[in-house]
Amino acid sequence: MNIITKKTELSTVIEKLKSEGKTVGLVPTMGALHEGHISLVKACKKGNDIAVVSVFVNPTQFNDKEDLKRYPRTLDKDVTLLEKNGCDYVFAPSVEEMYPEEDTRVFNFGYVESVMEGARRPGHFNGVGQIVSKLFDIVRPHRAYFGMKDFQQIAVIKNMVKQLHYDLEIVPCPIIRETDGLAMSSRNTLLEPEYRKNAPHIHKVLEEATHLTSQMNVEELKKWVVDEINKNPYLKTEYFEIVDDTELKPIQDWKENNVKVGCIAVYAGKIRLIDNIVF
Ligand code: PAF
Repeated sequence: MNIITKKTELSTVIEKLKSEGKTVGLVPTMGALHEGHISLVKACKKGNDIAVVSVFVNPTQFNDKEDLKRYPRTLDKDVTLLEKNGCDYVFAPSVEEMYPEEDTRVFNFGYVESVMEGARRPGHFNGVGQIVSKLFDIVRPHRAYFGMKDFQQIAVIKNMVKQLHYDLEIVPCPIIRETDGLAMSSRNTLLEPEYRKNAPHIHKVLEEATHLTSQMNVEELKKWVVDEINKNPYLKTEYFEIVDDTELKPIQDWKENNVKVGCIAVYAGKIRLIDNIVF
């Protein structure tokens, strides 16, 4: 496995591999890797000759400076884990390498960025668009892998791929959970023990909710989920929406003929957790 920190070096290496007929997959990450990321790396390696993993805490997608400061950074551990799991190239650039000057690009992802995370984290998806497009330009992968925990992020990135005519496939990969049901996230390591102990309540309530659609209409069920989660003194729901899986428009009726996804953001103390479930 090679570790590369410079954009031009990575582009040159990848171009050469592609000219030899190799397929290339990219897994963009912000590091602090866990089993969820590793499942992406494994899928990437299975679907391509070459697996490239980027490790970069992207400052432009953090609308909360405190969140950026406390975001875990564990590059040495990440590299060891990637080496064991089939990664061929780690791309770990500095902030100056990725942003030699301010990125002033403003994307318009339309409706999919205006709701849920987009409504609560102004500028977040614009920052995601900035870094992911830079990574796509450097690597020009055949496929790029993203975890479905960040469900809305996938919709935004698919929109960007269409708008900017990237010739690549976005591969969404299933959420990986801890044994107690908590969706794996780099932020889980920041949870104080009592909050960590209570955080699996989020998935437990979502799971239960999927069995209640014959007893409640959509609005009733949404309220039930929020009430059940907020009954736990360690958790405070920010939003819970049930949306279709492509346009992210709110579901009005269970009879609608689409895939319905319940998306949630919950504060466990200062730490904000997101999760989702298919109804
Ligand atoms: O999902 C993430 O970890 C980040 O948003 C991504 C896609 C690596 C861009 O920084």
